[in-house]
Amino acid sequence: MSDRKPLISGNWKMNLNHFEALKLIQELSYQVTVDDMEVVDISVHPPFTDIRSVQTVLDADKLPFDLGAQHCHFEPSGAFTGEVAPSMLAKLNVLYVIVGHSERREIFGETDEMVNAKVKAILANEMTPILCCGETLDEREAGDAKTKVGNQIVAGLSGLSPEQVGGLVIAYEPIWAIGTGKTASADDAQEMCAHVRSVVAETFGEEAGQSVRIQYGGSVKPTNANELLTQPDIDGALVGGAALEAESFARIAQYRLSGPDAG
Ligand code: PGA
Repeated sequence: MSDRKPLISGNWKMNLNHFEALKLIQELSYQVTVDDMEVVDISVHPPFTDIRSVQTVLDADKLPFDLGAQHCHFEPSGAFTGEVAPSMLAKLNVLYVIVGHSERREIFGETDEMVNAKVKAILANEMTPILCCGETLDEREAGDAKTKVGNQIVAGLSGLSPEQVGGLVIAYEPIWAIGTGKTASADDAQEMCAHVRSVVAETFGEEAGQSVRIQYGGSVKPTNANELLTQPDIDGALVGGAALEAESFARIAQYRLSGPDAG
């Protein structure tokens, strides 16, 4: 057993306005108990327009969820129409920022260099990046999954210290499993997350490899969460579709209760 505390993150993507966001947060607060929070961390990543409202309710009701964002720019300020600076998120008590999600890489053309600049900017603002990596189906079938993911990790973390790397989160998300209902088998997910850990250890040292938290993402649901999240190198989940409903997200956070040995 490692002492890495699992992190269950809800990536809401471009869903829910701020009224709907508040409703989901309230419902979630009824489903998740203080006991749950002792064994897992939970972060929610609403769209930008919801973040202030969600922050207000988390603070006012002292709810134990961490606030996250889905994206940011790497520059501190300036003429970047439509973008949001890391310091603006930090000011709203955002703790985690997703970086390099495959949708941002594929649809919005984010490169490894941009991802690396964002990782550094997020750390400079004392927030924690959740760096996403993952292969396409073609890459997997061609036997290139490990190379692709290893390269994304090395490029995304370039120039960081071992201490910085040890404190961040990496999300392994096979692209073919995102939003498709297809999940990597627990063995495949474990193999890839162990690979990510070994790349980190080789590049930044054993200590960084042992302490970095590695999430699995891609069609995580209450029914497959236990099998995936009890793997030795999987330290939580990045959840898309199933995070939009309080009950399914809470059941994922409570994955320990749904295992084969659960009563
Ligand atoms: P999904 O999305 O759970 O809907 O597959 C995961 C993600 O994109 O982070």
